[in-house]
Amino acid sequence: MRIVLLGPPGAGKGTQAKKIADQYSIVHISTGDLFRDNIKNQTPLGQKAKAYMDAGNLVPDELVIALVEDRISKDDCQKGYLLDGFPRTVAQASALSDFTEQAGKPLDFALSIEVPEEKLIDRIVGRRVCPNCGASYHVTFNPPKKDGICDRCGSALTQRKDDTEATVKNRLDVYNKETASLIDYYRCKDILVTVNGDQDVNVVTDEIFKALK
Ligand code: AP5
Ligand code: ZN
Repeated sequence: MRIVLLGPPGAGKGTQAKKIADQYSIVHISTGDLFRDNIKNQTPLGQKAKAYMDAGNLVPDELVIALVEDRISKDDCQKGYLLDGFPRTVAQASALSDFTEQAGKPLDFALSIEVPEEKLIDRIVGRRVCPNCGASYHVTFNPPKKDGICDRCGSALTQRKDDTEATVKNRLDVYNKETASLIDYYRCKDILVTVNGDQDVNVVTDEIFKALK
């Protein structure tokens, strides 16, 4: 199964993506995570992406498109993949359509997670992540058992650099200007499914599994 996951920052894409990828045994590809890994490892790509990400702006299309086309061509993606955070512009969506259709492996679903905008800032500002294993928590909605410590691996949790209130507001503006129109793009292609993301995490997951049948 080949899926793209749509939704504004904080909608729960990363949270749900891990569960979907496990359920369907497909590869979870988060462009945000790929860039953060490149920044951590100080690669040339990471050096190019860093300033855009820190400000909450989009990394230029040509860098992202090349990165994703390379990743989904790998052997482990032949059984399927879930793209989380890509596409984010019409240019990215149309490059992905061309690439997948020419390979004879078109997308099966575009899954949009919908959450009212006023909820998103609280979700993002309260997020804490594990720099070691990638687990994600929320200080109120999904706290770790021990304050500030990852349940899975015991590492100290950190906050993403772009999770400040000011940067989140810019990320939401960028989403509304550049990305929100992709919902109509995929509706026209007849592969759009939507779920209400403003519910308990496990209820959202159940709705997603039903929608993907
Ligand atoms: P990226 O890493 O993709 O960030 P994002 O889209 O802003 O999404 P988030 O990770 O903030 O939110 P999410 O929807 O995954 O929510 P989560 O599950 O963590 O991108 C970062 C940057 O990289 C971009 O700004 C850009 O610079 C660059 N970039 C990436 N892709 C690009 C592209 N294609 N083109 C150009 N640039 C690109 O949940 C959020 C919080 O809410 C968590 O704390 C979680 O515990 C909590 N939560 C989740 N679900 C629920 C629920 N149901 N109820 C209550 N709380 C919940
Ligand atoms: Zn951890």
